Amino acid sequence: MDTERLVPARIVAVANQKGGVGKTTVTMQIAAALSRRLRVLVVDVDPQQSTAWWAENAGAALPFDYAALPALADVARLSELGDRYDLTIVDTPGSLEDVRTLETVLDLADFAIVPLPPEPLAVNPTVRTISRLIEPRHVPHAVLLNRIDSRISSQLRDWEHLLDTTLGVPRFAGYLRQYRVHSNAPLTGDVITATPDTRRTAAAIWDAMSVGFELAGRLAQLRKAG
Ligand SMILES: Nc1ncnc2c1ncn2[C@@H]1O[C@H](COP(=O)(O)OP(=O)(O)O)[C@@H](O)[C@H]1O
Ligand SMILES: [Mg+2]
Repeated sequence: MDTERLVPARIVAVANQKGGVGKTTVTMQIAAALSRRLRVLVVDVDPQQSTAWWAENAGAALPFDYAALPALADVARLSELGDRYDLTIVDTPGSLEDVRTLETVLDLADFAIVPLPPEPLAVNPTVRTISRLIEPRHVPHAVLLNRIDSRISSQLRDWEHLLDTTLGVPRFAGYLRQYRVHSNAPLTGDVITATPDTRRTAAAIWDAMSVGFELAGRLAQLRKAG
């Protein structure tokens, strides 16, 4: 990974108006993956402040810096805050009421990650988030399949097909499978870089590192495109 190419600072929003799709999980784990090579700041603008709880449980162990901006007025300071970092990853609210907060973040974002679990009920809110909030702002974006169940053989293929063909939305080649390492993480305060790499955890770590790598590549391409 060539860190030079990521300068100037980039803002990545993790957005989906549906709750429970994995925004907080994706924010923390991808931030951890990228913190191996880059100076990463995580900003939480969700009034629920889930990452704050996670960060509290982590104590000093988080490999990236962290800031909470629960008030809409503060969200506009996002760029200023992220100035000293290569990358700012912003965890955003999932509720429809907090649309102004999400809009403010998207106004400033260079890229948006849209997590989507393989759940039919999540599809419409995801498509709406993209078509009503992300596309009108011309923010480059990609759906990230999350909570893929590796025991269901055709699930990944079916959902990739849905995104590519039926919905026609851009997606990450990588994806996150469903693992206890992720669901336990907020409680233990662990992120994948703090988790021992064992037979039980290796796949979860691999997933997050691959997606992180892919994101870094996409951000580098944005720079080339101007
Ligand atoms: N890849 C995953 N594997 C296992 N559990 C996951 C995964 N992604 C999310 N979860 C769990 O799903 C729930 C919702 O995820 P969360 O990140 O809080 O979503 P959001 O921030 O969009 O509301 C949480 O309990 C979280 O631990
Ligand atoms: Mg959340």
